[in-house]
Parts: sequence; C-alpha cells; structure tokens
Amino acid sequence: MKIVVIQGPNLNMLGHREQNIYGPMKLEEIHAQMQAVAKQNNIEIEFFQSNLEGEIVDRIQECLGEADGIIINPAAYSHTSIAIRDAISAVSMPVVEVHISNIYRREEFRQKSITAAVCTGLISGFGPFGYHLAMISMSQILGEITAIKAAQEAESKKA
Ligand code: DQA
Repeated sequence: MKIVVIQGPNLNMLGHREQNIYGPMKLEEIHAQMQAVAKQNNIEIEFFQSNLEGEIVDRIQECLGEADGIIINPAAYSHTSIAIRDAISAVSMPVVEVHISNIYRREEFRQKSITAAVCTGLISGFGPFGYHLAMISMSQILGEITAIKAAQEAESKKA
C-alpha cells in the first residue's frame, strides 16, 4: 500500500509561520512522525511540498498507477484552485484533505474548500495530529477497497 502526502504553499514555513494558528511543529517533524507510523503499519509513504499550483497538479496526476491514495493539504489553493480540484477528480482514487487549523472558525474566505468537495473526506482543526488521523482513515479506506475487490474476485471465480 502506497500513500503520497502532498503539501501546498507555505506549509514549508510551518514552525515559523503564525505559530498561534499552526503551532510550533515543522513540516519535517510532521513527516517524520507519519513516516514512523507508516513503517509500523507496512505502508509505503512519500512526501511532496510545493508552493506552485502546476507542480501540485503534476504530482497528483503522477499518483495514477503509482499510489493507492493521497493525503493532501492544498493550503491556500483549497480556496481557489479549480485546477487542483480537477486533478483530484481525474485520478479517482481515495484522497483525504487535511487542514491543520479549523477552516470553519477562520476568515470567511477560508470557510469554503473547493478541493474538499471532490475528496473522500476532510480533517480540519486537529493541528498536526490531523495528518495522523488522515493516515488512519486512509488505511481503513484502502483496507475496505481491498476486501471488496477480493470478495468480487471470489464471486467471479464462482460464476
Ligand atoms: C491551511 C488553511 C488554509 O486556509 C491556509 O491558507 C493554509 C493552511 C491549514 O492547514 O490550516 O496555508 O490549509
């Protein structure tokens, strides 16, 4: 099972930017924790961060045939990017969107995520722990898909 974690603009500044909102943890620290959990659970995991919309679109597209699921924090692009939304729709695989802050408690322009509308689910407001919750959700979703496929295969062999 392979999960790709995609981090949008300014998330490379975590630990420095607005600590009162995003806390003191650096992105590398969040990724190190995710890597440890992935290892324990036999999950292959890869991390990607970009401040550029097109690079994020490219990375999502590359997941096709390479990954089983995507965990993404599109950051500010969540509120603006139809291109990232279309890329998520195009790959049609499980995608969990994460926001460190609770976007529904913040400025009005952050209260709508146009990308979350095409994701499997959204986790928002749990701080960096949200990425851990996303990993648990993703392995649950992928486990269910594997079980359904196995059942379908067994059924088709019977016929
Ligand atoms: C964020 C919320 C966005 O509104 C903001 O632009 C970010 C971070 C979050 O993780 O809480 O950069 O995605």
